[in-house]
Amino acid sequence: MFVSDLLAGKRYLITGGGTGLGKMMTRKVCELGGSVSICGRREHVLVETADELNEEFGPRVTWFTLDIRDPEAVDAVVDAVWDEAPIDGLINNAAGNFLARTETISHRALDAVLNIVAHGSAYMTLACGKKWIANDRPGNVLSIITTYAWTGSAYVLPSAMGKAAILAMTRSLAVEWGPKGIRLNAISPGPFPTEGAWERLVPTKKLADVWEQRNPLGRTGKHEELMNLVAYLLSDQSGYINGDNITIDGGEWLAGAGQFNFANILTDEEWDKITPKKKD
Ligand code: HXC
Repeated sequence: MFVSDLLAGKRYLITGGGTGLGKMMTRKVCELGGSVSICGRREHVLVETADELNEEFGPRVTWFTLDIRDPEAVDAVVDAVWDEAPIDGLINNAAGNFLARTETISHRALDAVLNIVAHGSAYMTLACGKKWIANDRPGNVLSIITTYAWTGSAYVLPSAMGKAAILAMTRSLAVEWGPKGIRLNAISPGPFPTEGAWERLVPTKKLADVWEQRNPLGRTGKHEELMNLVAYLLSDQSGYINGDNITIDGGEWLAGAGQFNFANILTDEEWDKITPKKKD
């Protein structure tokens, strides 16, 4: 879909870049000629991912252990990454989430997710933004949110609150930092199954089946579809997109929103019965 040097010479920092969608994004940047620094809490997955991709693409990936809930650690890692070479873009990909009846969760559970999603993403964005501004360089922030950032969602309250905060940050800073050459956008993916997230969020077959059935396109997303959107938004080719949120969910959230969408339960015979006959 893209020229093979789309991201040549560009350097990105990807939170949670060692596993799942974050790892796929890291791979995509490497495939398109860019380099990446990945960070996350678990050293062994960072090392494995960096080793695998460096073997395949040459030395493109460095790694730093980091819990983005710790603002001092965030600043130190962004300093260290910048000291290797300036960063062109940040992907706020790391998240925390679980499925639970909200009245059963503790304040620590609420904090655990909000501190990762809302605070951690803001710490990362601020740390990179300060570097870009101090060095008079352009910047690009891409945050992975989801459609319930604006619809809200039962059973994932802390995550919904955190993703809404990222959307507000994206729109706020797009205007404030746009004049400094820093743009911020978000992607709202629908269901793109990965092992880690699906274990937590879709723990039964009954739930998994509904994901596919309720989607207007009748399927979950293909990872490559999401990676192509990520690559476009990371590249300078999307340079005039700023402050936006792009949904890639097969129409899922709209299917839940439209008041008469539920009429898809009618059969063709039932439609024929209620449709006025044409007069000859
Ligand atoms: C209720 C829970 C819980 C659960 C943890 N807690 N899991 N409460 N139901 N399923 C509570 C714990 O009991 C504890 O509270 C508090 O949360 C902190 O838990 P810890 O395990 O000590 O914290 P920590 O190791 O920091 O774990 C953070 C986490 C965890 C968010 C809870 O799930 C995590 O690390 N996740 C990271 C990866 C992840 O979730 N990725 C998926 C993102 S997917 P008490 O009171 O007992 O001390 C995503 C996409 C959404 O966001 C869109 C989909 C379409």
